[in-house]
Amino acid sequence: MVMVHNVLVVGSGGREHALSWKLACSPMVNTVYTAPGNGGTAYNVPINVDQLEDLAEYAEKHGCFTVVGPEAPLAAGISETFAKYDLPLFGPTQAAARLEYSKVWAKDFMSRNGIQTARYKTFTDPDEALQNADMFGYPVAIKADGLAAGKGVVVCDTYGQAKDAILDMMIHSKFGDAGQRIVIEEGLRGVEMSYIAICDGSDMIPMVTSQDYKRIYDRDRGPNTGGMGACSPAESVDDDLVERIHRDVMERTVSAMRREGNPFVGFLYAGIMIQDGEPYVLEYNVRMGDPECQPIMLRMKSDLYQYLFAAVSGTLNTLPPVLWHTTPAVCVVLASMGYPGSFTTGQIITLPDDIQPDAQIFHAGTKRHDDTITSAGGRVLGVTALGDTVSDAARNAYDIVDSVQWSEKYCRRDIGSGVAQDIT
Ligand code: AMP
Ligand code: GLY
Repeated sequence: MVMVHNVLVVGSGGREHALSWKLACSPMVNTVYTAPGNGGTAYNVPINVDQLEDLAEYAEKHGCFTVVGPEAPLAAGISETFAKYDLPLFGPTQAAARLEYSKVWAKDFMSRNGIQTARYKTFTDPDEALQNADMFGYPVAIKADGLAAGKGVVVCDTYGQAKDAILDMMIHSKFGDAGQRIVIEEGLRGVEMSYIAICDGSDMIPMVTSQDYKRIYDRDRGPNTGGMGACSPAESVDDDLVERIHRDVMERTVSAMRREGNPFVGFLYAGIMIQDGEPYVLEYNVRMGDPECQPIMLRMKSDLYQYLFAAVSGTLNTLPPVLWHTTPAVCVVLASMGYPGSFTTGQIITLPDDIQPDAQIFHAGTKRHDDTITSAGGRVLGVTALGDTVSDAARNAYDIVDSVQWSEKYCRRDIGSGVAQDIT
């Protein structure tokens, strides 16, 4: 007999809508609750991601298996809170989440375990940091140690830019305590991709590769955002390289975490830069990528819940590999005009009545009142579609994008066109 469970997905973005949607497809899952959720998620629970005890109480009362979307509750110890109540939760412990919430810890971890990453040095003294800003030449990446909502990395081409970044972080406390310690890192040039796997502490099951389009304007110009689109598979990576990343980055990371006493359970995400054919780890995330999650979920044919449940029980190695649609998927993010700067919210959004069955409109910053959807954030929708080729998938996604009516609609027009980044 199939055991049927409820699931609680923690978070409110496009990633959490995609996870909630996919988990709701499982024959083993009864109801998927999302806390706090958005205008697209079906059963929202008004508890925020930082209310760890309340989330645990809710999960206990409703018999939920919990899946954590964003990094903040993981860094705050949601895994330990749930363990106290003996509740099943898919996500790393606070100690394992250091891979994401301390860049210094992650760099030292890579360096002592032979995982290829850019050369770096850590600073706690601003004068010393300024004197050494050019120790690797330019470009140089200046990184705040702690969590900074995706804004704690500045890639600088001149001393002036590096100085501003160091002063912002260490003197003007732009990121609070997160910037009191910084990493100065050799600037790399190349193509980026995301490699994500489901881990159970010992074993892992990889997801298909993906690629994020980080900047606001076409041809990867303008300021960084949370991600303006994603495609899967990543462009410009062949099977050999994927195999190398799996072996030299992912397997090494999982076994070193275990050896060091921090077995990693959860989504492990390596942000990779491929420079001259060599993969370098730019960062780890201890969660699914957003928006990478959206095309990955659309391509997944297997039951996601089965894998997450097995990961928490430490039995991933008993499951077959995930089955995937061989066709690519593209996600185009619709943002509020002005994002990532200032923007207005509260406009009515009209979605098309019918879309093709191999596409999904994932919500992020939306609210629903009865049948009316309004905008409520910077990144608002993630229109995601499959297609025979990346260009077909992009065309399918843009056909839907063009039928969304919303006065403040902004999106890049080049998602899936092979220009994830301008590397000239
Ligand atoms: P991170 O949060 O560390 O991934 O950094 C955010 C973005 O900054 C990355 O996706 C890259 O585009 C860029 N970046 C980070 N580290 C470097 C580096 N060493 N060289 C060049 N670009 C980098
Ligand atoms: N798409 C990048 C991230 O999720 O951090």
